[in-house]
Amino acid sequence: MPEAPPLLLAAFSLGLVLLVLLCLRRWGLGKLLICWNELVLQPLYNLFMGDTKEQRILRHVLQHAVAGDPQSVLEAIDTYCSQKEWAMNVGDKKGQILDAVLQEQRPSVLLELGAYCGYSAVRMARLLEPGARLLTIELNPDYAAITQQMLEFAGLQDRVTIVVGASQDVIPQLKKKYDVDTLDMVFLDHWKDRYLPDTRLLEECGLLRKGTVLLADNVICPGTPEFLAYVRGNRHFECTHFPSYLEYSKAIDGLEKAVYLGPGTPTQP
Ligand SMILES: C[S@@+](CC[C@H](N)C(=O)[O-])C[C@H]1O[C@@H](n2cnc3c(N)ncnc32)[C@H](O)[C@@H]1O
Repeated sequence: MPEAPPLLLAAFSLGLVLLVLLCLRRWGLGKLLICWNELVLQPLYNLFMGDTKEQRILRHVLQHAVAGDPQSVLEAIDTYCSQKEWAMNVGDKKGQILDAVLQEQRPSVLLELGAYCGYSAVRMARLLEPGARLLTIELNPDYAAITQQMLEFAGLQDRVTIVVGASQDVIPQLKKKYDVDTLDMVFLDHWKDRYLPDTRLLEECGLLRKGTVLLADNVICPGTPEFLAYVRGNRHFECTHFPSYLEYSKAIDGLEKAVYLGPGTPTQP
């Protein structure tokens, strides 16, 4: 095999180091690790294993959790994702904040944007009061199918409607097709560039009422600067930040709670 000229190798290595430094500067360590994991490691591992990470997560749950016991489902997912393969579930640390906000709010109609494997759907559905319902919108049909199986295994399928589609297409249908008047709470956890347009869309479609709670994940890592600037600088929202860590990592992250104060102009103090 012909040897690569040393100069070429040195230039390639230097280029690689520069690229990593550039990404590190632009995205920070958290985002860089996510990209490395999702774009390089995962596809290679999937190719090698002949299945997907999401199927492996579900298999782990079916083998290690107890059917009908949502807590054991969450624990099995957290164990797998902290010890074997990182995945973009809200995770246990931020999950406890999610639990606390949900228990305080006690929503009857709860919307989730982005279901993935159903971790947060199980987490939220297990705390719903009798008669309350969760609608979760998921773009990827393979992920939606995993969520369905996860909820069935946890015994929570009757409280949750999984809608397969893009949030921007489904939100305008919520009133007529899914019998929603207004939402009590929304958990935003889909692609980060959709947080702001979907918040505006929820407002435009008349789905927010005075007191509706928006809870947004990953507002620091990967980050949602436009959404944060919008809700924090808007007198129709009252915001609280909950600092935390990116799921299964030490990278700084946080949840933003934005309470909608209603469409009218609140009186300034
Ligand atoms: C961070 S994951 C959700 C994690 C999940 N909430 C949990 O904590 O277990 C983001 C998910 O949003 C989905 N998604 C991205 N953009 C979307 C959109 N516009 N509409 C619906 N789902 C979307 C992705 O397919 C992905 O499954």
